[in-house]
Amino acid sequence: MFAIETQNLTKRFGKTVVVDGLSLQVPTGCVFGFLGPNGAGKTTTLRLLLGLLRPDRGCVHLLGHNLFAHRLQALSGVGAFVESASVYDHLSGRANLELTRRVLGLREREIDRVLELVELQRAGNKRVRDYSLGMKQRLALARALLGKPRLLLLDEPTNGLDPDGIMAMRRLIRELPDRIGGTVFVSSHLLSEVEQTAQGLCLLRAGSAVLQGSVADLLDRSSQIDFTVDRAGAAMEVLIANGVPASLVDEGAIRVQCPGEDRAAAAAANRLLVTHGIAVSAMTPRKRSLEDLYRDTLRAEDGAARQGPKRRAA
Ligand SMILES: Nc1ncnc2c1ncn2[C@@H]1O[C@H](COP(=O)(O)OP(=O)(O)OP(=O)(O)O)[C@@H](O)[C@H]1O
Ligand SMILES: [Mg+2]
Repeated sequence: MFAIETQNLTKRFGKTVVVDGLSLQVPTGCVFGFLGPNGAGKTTTLRLLLGLLRPDRGCVHLLGHNLFAHRLQALSGVGAFVESASVYDHLSGRANLELTRRVLGLREREIDRVLELVELQRAGNKRVRDYSLGMKQRLALARALLGKPRLLLLDEPTNGLDPDGIMAMRRLIRELPDRIGGTVFVSSHLLSEVEQTAQGLCLLRAGSAVLQGSVADLLDRSSQIDFTVDRAGAAMEVLIANGVPASLVDEGAIRVQCPGEDRAAAAAANRLLVTHGIAVSAMTPRKRSLEDLYRDTLRAEDGAARQGPKRRAA
């Protein structure tokens, strides 16, 4: 079972397609980063996932329940805040939580539990207008945690925070899957945010997923080895003619895609070059970062867009 699964989720505002055939698969028990530039459709997707907007097409399963057929069951294990979460400034943090606790019919001690989870136990009785922005965001998180959700949806929880606030929120998010025994789906437009907190990610662009999977797998799949050679042009011809994906680095080096730094594949490429009379003087594995992967993906997408109109999934 996935914590979140969508198929072909699509939402239009007027003629603009804002979420475009999105199929998400979010495993349970992890932090999953939902990454995308401003206007990519992150908040709209979160609203769709929470049933706050109706999609034009597609379906959503939360914790195994169909959101449209069994809305209450699907949302019963879900906590969320979307866009800067609103809290009452003139009330204390505790009083804010009390309002939601009563609506949800939870026990009083639930408030202490969530205040402690977000490390606000000592500030609980202070008025929210005296909170820093970071404290307000943590209070919003505490509210989302009321009722022990197994799935948390957080929309840009570090937006507008100073470096200390960001670090505190990041640490909290990283620890949450263990502490709540569940899944945290967190949107961000910052790659570094996702890199430091998430085990899985979806990169959204103009409402479509351009990259999705476990961060470790994605990095592994994109690993490369640079070959230092005497004749790069000839080396490229040999490899391409033999179906080995390679690109030119400069006149003295070529780069070979080598998923998982597969030694056998690297050795085979080396053998091909040597048997064709090309001298290989060094083989250097390139450790890739998520940022490299992000840039490559966006560049490949831009290239595809320049070559013609986007092909839409049927
Ligand atoms: N209710 C609405 N009516 C019309 N257009 C909308 C509506 N809500 C969002 N949009 C448009 O949909 C697009 C995606 O918006 P969305 O807020 O989902 O993006 P986002 O990825 O959350 O961006 P940000 O990083 O700025 O929060 C934007 O072009 C936005 O203007
Ligand atoms: Mg948004």
